[in-house]
Amino acid sequence: AADISDQITTVLVTEEDIREKLAEIAARVAVDYAGKDLLLVGVLKGAVMVMADFARALPMVVPMDWMAVSSYGSGTKSSGVVQIRKDLDTDIHDKHVLIVEDIIDSGLTLSWLLENFASRGAASVEVFALLRKPEAAKVHVESKYVGFDIPTEFVIGYGLDYDEKYRNLRDVAVLAPHVYS
Ligand code: PRP
Ligand code: MN
Ligand code: MG
Repeated sequence: AADISDQITTVLVTEEDIREKLAEIAARVAVDYAGKDLLLVGVLKGAVMVMADFARALPMVVPMDWMAVSSYGSGTKSSGVVQIRKDLDTDIHDKHVLIVEDIIDSGLTLSWLLENFASRGAASVEVFALLRKPEAAKVHVESKYVGFDIPTEFVIGYGLDYDEKYRNLRDVAVLAPHVYS
């Protein structure tokens, strides 16, 4: 396999960090949603890895649906325009929805999604974001579960891409600026 050590500057969150955090959050979610009709909604494509591992860390049977939205295209900055590329298959009316996201950066994607879901009559809508960049927020997003707060740097791996690459890295790392500048 190609050595990518010259394409990253720092590993921020390791595979092991993620495994431990997902177990913690899964235990909280199992308690918080006991007896409730929970639906996990993963946001494609970034949330693929966290959704797969988080769902399997949960101690109960839970349905999973997917929404595909995109705001970044091939750049490193959010365009602010969120496009639906694939809508939910599930009617979320009266469901307790937990949106699973890889990252809250500017917050634009999730604030748009939360508004979109609010109009569909869900019993509740909450967010689990594995990563959050507190200093990059352009809009505030209420996230009930957050894995790690990270600095304002362009990160890749564990689902996060630059120009569709690096999603399959096991850790979350900072992309070396020479790759995109
Ligand atoms: C990325 C990431 C989040 C969103 C966060 O998705 O996966 O969904 O941006 O950024 P924001 O808080 O500034 O809106 P992207 O649009 O790159 O699509 P992808 O998941 O297919 O990579
Ligand atoms: Mn995404
Ligand atoms: Mg992306």
